[in-house]
Amino acid sequence: MLVAGYSMLDECPVSGIKNRVSRIGMRIVITAGGTREYIDPVRYISNASSGRMGYALARAALKAGHEVTLITAPTAQEPPSEATIVKAETAARMFEAVKKHFSRCDCLIMAAAVADYTPVRPAPTKLKKTGQNLTIKLKPTPDILKWAAEHKNKTRILVGFALEDKALRARAEKKLHEKNLDMIVANCPAAIGADKSTVQIKTLDSAWVKIENAAKSATAKKIIALAEKLHRRRTDSCPPRPAEVPERASPRSRRFLFS
Ligand code: CTP
Repeated sequence: MLVAGYSMLDECPVSGIKNRVSRIGMRIVITAGGTREYIDPVRYISNASSGRMGYALARAALKAGHEVTLITAPTAQEPPSEATIVKAETAARMFEAVKKHFSRCDCLIMAAAVADYTPVRPAPTKLKKTGQNLTIKLKPTPDILKWAAEHKNKTRILVGFALEDKALRARAEKKLHEKNLDMIVANCPAAIGADKSTVQIKTLDSAWVKIENAAKSATAKKIIALAEKLHRRRTDSCPPRPAEVPERASPRSRRFLFS
């Protein structure tokens, strides 16, 4: 179900099967699309992200049997009906939404192209042209991934994206370590808005994997499989104490409880 228009933060559990949890049992939060940073009520700064990768990830995760919360900036993509959809138009709203859903997720995938800057003082009414140069002062937005890394527990998986036009692997690997991520998906500007893309993926404990000119659906499936593997490894080496068991424990964590 689609909710018409974008309220600032709009949550919409869309089907009765949103509580379905797979054998692997991950609750995955995925962000998608490019945020909009308003200059005045009708004009904004944004980027060319189509949201395709984030939505492909949501579909792949659902297909693999996971529970998905898709936090999405405006896109033309059709939301998967089995996901919980949370609409977040700006970086600030996306940050609020991630903070709200983070504590009960097993995996956060930040596929959104979050604006790095936002106007310091958006005009309350439509700006009129003056014929003069216009300077808009920008301030940094909150780094959502950085916040998530500071609040992750031992089993939660964090996946970031890096869009780089040069030194792809070196810069992406720097991000992987600096942002304390478990996996980084690196791609080039050519990937924006395209159906197919070339991506390179690195997890903390494995070599780079290159996926060349593949449909975003195929890449998404691979990313979800890698996240499952990381999560399985974490939960196997780190069984939850009784107090940490989530209210709807997955079959895997139940095994820890009763074996
Ligand atoms: N990201 C985020 N919060 C922001 C900006 C980006 O969580 N305010 C996330 C993106 O969703 C992406 C990752 O950080 O998963 C990389 O974003 P990117 O903008 O490429 O990295 P930065 O560290 O902001 O550095 P730069 O833009 O200089 O490359």
